[in-house]
Amino acid sequence: MGNEEETWVVMKTARAPSNIAVIKYWGKRDEKLILPINSSISVTLDPEHLSATTTVAASPAFEKDRLWLNGKEVSVEGVRYKNCLREMRARATDVVIESSGKVIRKEDWNSLHIHIASENNFPTAAGLASSAAGFACLVYALAQLMGVQEKYEGELTAIARLGSGSACRSLYGGFVEWKMGQEIDGTDSIAVQLAEESHWKDLVIIIAVVSSRQKETSSTSGMQESVKTSPLLKYRAEEVVPKRIVQMEKAIKSMNFTEFAKITCADSNQFHATCLDTSPPIFYLNDTSRKLIGLVERWNRHAGEPQVAYTFDAGPNAVMFAKNKEVAAQLLQRLLYQFPPSADTDISRYVHGDQSILESAGVNSLKDIDSLSAPAEVAGIPNLQRIPGEVDYLICTNVGKGAYVLGEQGANLIDPVSGLLK
Ligand code: DP6
Repeated sequence: MGNEEETWVVMKTARAPSNIAVIKYWGKRDEKLILPINSSISVTLDPEHLSATTTVAASPAFEKDRLWLNGKEVSVEGVRYKNCLREMRARATDVVIESSGKVIRKEDWNSLHIHIASENNFPTAAGLASSAAGFACLVYALAQLMGVQEKYEGELTAIARLGSGSACRSLYGGFVEWKMGQEIDGTDSIAVQLAEESHWKDLVIIIAVVSSRQKETSSTSGMQESVKTSPLLKYRAEEVVPKRIVQMEKAIKSMNFTEFAKITCADSNQFHATCLDTSPPIFYLNDTSRKLIGLVERWNRHAGEPQVAYTFDAGPNAVMFAKNKEVAAQLLQRLLYQFPPSADTDISRYVHGDQSILESAGVNSLKDIDSLSAPAEVAGIPNLQRIPGEVDYLICTNVGKGAYVLGEQGANLIDPVSGLLK
């Protein structure tokens, strides 16, 4: 540390949720600015269960920008981090440090280095949009630290977009649309909230985390290949998505689950079709994903109208939406029947998140799972496979709120004296 007056460390901590797209973003028209070829719509997941927490700190004693992700130091030299930091520094204002009354001047931010520590409350290896939550959280936390006020609504979402496209949708809660925009500088490619998290209280979300042994193609490179080679993607972006965006906005606003479910499933399936239409083809779904699709499709057909919708991102995990809590309990029973945990797995380690769904399903132990009977729609299927451990675990969650500040000292991931990871 330098001389006496220069020993201060100032920091802010924030939390931002993951989001799951129900109209998918796949393909960029500008790689540097991360501008998409179509608009997309997502549902924000409850940050209690799926979020990133990030502390950002500044001190004249810091010699360079540094970043710790889930406890490990990683390079902050990547262009996406640099772009986010540059854009935030350019918007910084005079900030008064409450404890000392010292003022950090607008221009000081250009020379102050930033330490960033971020962690997820779910395993990164699970492939659950950790970069979306992470970049949204970084931008939100920096805005608090540097006193950044948006000059137009959605300005921060446009900066989060520079970190990862889908991150722009993670600043807001509830139901969010990323408008593709038209400007070449990307200023109108922003996220807007369609409805708050309290708008559609009935929806319940269950995620099946599916074990994947194979290394998946990253979204960034996968979509580049699709833009280059898939004629279906071009057709999808130009002809299909614009209509679906309008239909989905309507379905969400009117809480029409039947419409919501039809469009969500169709859009996930078309996204995976464009992956298959890419040369060489990209496979994100595996056998377990297809069985999960089968489970939902069979049940919906048997019920005569959609009870549950499914969607899959660039990986084999299923994100399922149940019409209401009662249906969610039935979905959980069906999932536990067809995908029981392996014999040595405790039920509390198999079903994460909102435990009230488990209570409504009346399942308290592995024995309860053994005594679950086959749902009516699978009665006629002779060889329905029930392989224990095929699904790693389930997460029960809800539609959640957007990014927020964590005020308590204890939430900080950076030590206030050393300025290093705690
Ligand atoms: C399949 O936002 O991870 O999850 O912009 O290159 O960082 P980059 O890609 P990313 O892509 C997400 C793709 C998706 C669909 C979606 O979230 O809309």
